Amino acid sequence: MKHTIKPALAGILLSMITALTLHAAQPSINITSFGTLPDGRSTQLYTLTNSQGAQISVTNFGGIITRIIVPDREGRLGDVALGYENVEKYVAGHPYFGAIIGRYGNRIAAGKFTLDGKDYTLFTNNDPGGIPCSLHGGKIGFDKVLWDVTPFLTKDAAGLKLRYLSKDGEEGYPGNLDVTVTYTFTNNNEIRIDYFATTDKATPCNLTNHSYFNLAGEGSGTILNHVLTLNASKLTVVDAGLIPTGKHVPVKGTPFDFTTPHAIGARVNTPGDEQLKFGGGYDHNFVLDRTLPGLFKAAEVYEPVTGRVMEILTEEPGIQFYCGNFLDGTNIGKSQIPYTYRTGFALETQHFPDSPNQKDKQAFPSTILRPGEKYRTTTIYRFSAR
Ligand code: GLA
Repeated sequence: MKHTIKPALAGILLSMITALTLHAAQPSINITSFGTLPDGRSTQLYTLTNSQGAQISVTNFGGIITRIIVPDREGRLGDVALGYENVEKYVAGHPYFGAIIGRYGNRIAAGKFTLDGKDYTLFTNNDPGGIPCSLHGGKIGFDKVLWDVTPFLTKDAAGLKLRYLSKDGEEGYPGNLDVTVTYTFTNNNEIRIDYFATTDKATPCNLTNHSYFNLAGEGSGTILNHVLTLNASKLTVVDAGLIPTGKHVPVKGTPFDFTTPHAIGARVNTPGDEQLKFGGGYDHNFVLDRTLPGLFKAAEVYEPVTGRVMEILTEEPGIQFYCGNFLDGTNIGKSQIPYTYRTGFALETQHFPDSPNQKDKQAFPSTILRPGEKYRTTTIYRFSAR
């Protein structure tokens, strides 16, 4: 009797220990080489694994999130972020896949602004409708610089602190801007991004992350079946150059009404809609329906085939929804699959486009950071499945 019970008990104990170890897996960080920049500097890839075995990878080049590996409703892991497998491909060019965006996320009209009576000129790197503007920080924005990275681990998360000092006059912007972006990947499959900055001269500052998502898996095809909810009942409507006209316009009764869940593709090609025409689809800043400061649930995206869900919480007043209208297959992703038209979408939390030039300061909250002030804002991307 004794002899038969003992091995059985041992077996049970062993499986209990294995289960405990699996569940108690500590978050970890693995660092590998990500290739060399044209000037000889080497880059790294930091892979953060949480206690559930989900992962994100981040490179110090541009602070780019290159991979987001999260479970579907069956628990199967899949990569939901568009991106590349080495730094050389990012250097060769890409539409801001996964990158930190700054000093100014989104557009500044004609690449010009006036601050405290002084005129500033920025590099114009974008011209929708043939109208030049400065987009996402200019020629060498924060998406193309090398960040100093300090990894950290807690029992609840793996994280990276990224720091970059943007020099006075860089890309035409005034002041030395000292920026810290902290990525925290929690055991609950949340990517928390904390942005922090100080300056020694007044400067515009509007930081974001430009991840492109495909919750069915990167390279798996269209994102038009994803179901989007945006807690935003107004839009900062734009002109042909994608610069806000200054008005907040209600989305009710338009293809921009995502206050209830809608498939991205359901109304994206609505004929005769001027805003869709200007953007070539959705490429617009939504005014979030927040009533209080703090974290606000801005968006939820559901992918019906895999059941994956992404929620976005932010302290920002706006979110740019861009449905990959400029993707045309020239960017070959990390799985060697071309990223074609509308196979990824971005939801960029932010202050409103062109705020430094907008007259109505009530409708376009200030994006000016002054010496002695602290720029501090948080956005969370939370992944789950149902
Ligand atoms: C932002 C802009 C888009 C486009 C993408 C990058 O989201 O709003 O118009 O430029 O970046 O292609």
